[in-house]
Amino acid sequence: MKILVTGGCGFIGSHLVRLLVEARGCEVVNLDKLGYAANPESLQDLSGHPGYRFEAVDICDADALSASFLRHQPDAVMHLAAETHVDRSIDDPGVFIQTNITGTYQLLEASLQYWRSLKAGGGGSGQAEGFRFLHVSTDEVYGSLSLDEPAFTESSPYDPHSPYAASKAAADHLVRSWHETYALPVLLTNCSNNYGPGQFPEKLIPLVLSKCLRWEPIPIYGQGKNIRDWLYVGDHCEALYTVLTKGRVGETYNIGGNNEWRNIDLVRHLCGLMDELGPGAGLGPPASYESLIHFVADRPGHDLRYAMDTTKIREELGWEPTQDAGSGLRKTVEWYLEQWLNG
Ligand SMILES: NC(=O)c1ccc[n+]([C@@H]2O[C@H](COP(=O)([O-])OP(=O)(O)OC[C@H]3O[C@@H](n4cnc5c(N)ncnc54)[C@H](O)[C@@H]3O)[C@@H](O)[C@H]2O)c1
Repeated sequence: MKILVTGGCGFIGSHLVRLLVEARGCEVVNLDKLGYAANPESLQDLSGHPGYRFEAVDICDADALSASFLRHQPDAVMHLAAETHVDRSIDDPGVFIQTNITGTYQLLEASLQYWRSLKAGGGGSGQAEGFRFLHVSTDEVYGSLSLDEPAFTESSPYDPHSPYAASKAAADHLVRSWHETYALPVLLTNCSNNYGPGQFPEKLIPLVLSKCLRWEPIPIYGQGKNIRDWLYVGDHCEALYTVLTKGRVGETYNIGGNNEWRNIDLVRHLCGLMDELGPGAGLGPPASYESLIHFVADRPGHDLRYAMDTTKIREELGWEPTQDAGSGLRKTVEWYLEQWLNG
């Protein structure tokens, strides 16, 4: 299978590209504009691989997208390219509207034209029938839960609160409408917070670890009582491949780790792992890394709680996370420490 991945140089995209090329034997064409969050070095070792191609393309550029489709004739699209950091969306929402909404629209248009050309071409390969467009989205589109509400299901109403969440919600609606209106064979996934090696350091877990390593204050919004569900990035990528290959066209699948943490508890846990594994372990830092925690003014519109009901993907497609909080977080801390020690 030849898959066109957008945003393949980002955190999740680079894990996904590696899974597809190395473990699933797929050919991958990675389209990424190489924005601030991209880390092309993470895929450097694939540069000579016959199953991997990279093209520096902005998904808002309709001509460049059409040319890539024409050149590579993919069997599927996995769409991850996005602006992803909520704080940045509050400071500068325009680029979120541009990439997450307009970019998704351009990609849908290019995919539709390409899919129609496959159908018009006839042929016996079944490429048009098998073509899929998988749109990767977030739990944040559903809004916020109170402490005792049940987790979000695929039929929970949309209620996004940040410019990031609203732009992803708009993109989700566009993708569904391209299916309803033009019959484009789409699939959607909404996933909870990811963590793992190689995440851009503005996100909570790498931020905490880098603050520990520099012995700098660890900022926590409000009182740290906001709750997020955390999923190991490798498990998310397996889920995406499962949905692409087994999911029912037009359907949405929620993905999550069944692993809810209050931010403050997660940060304390990470500090504990750093006390155990970090530089100075054995000798001991001047005090526990926990002493670095300090509370800062809350983020505007900060959602209290997200949680995902993953019954559908578990029962229908047989996907389950493989990493629990203990193994996944330990592995992640070990990876960041190794990077740090190797400079
Ligand atoms: N990280 C999470 O916890 C999480 C959870 C659920 C869903 N998601 C979704 O998964 C996807 C990937 O998230 P991530 O955390 O890997 O993001 P990321 O910010 O690490 O990477 C995004 C990538 O997209 C690229 N990109 C941005 N704008 C582009 C454009 N206009 N054209 C081409 N490429 C562009 C960037 O260069 C970068 O490589 C996003 O759609 C995000 O909404 C992320």
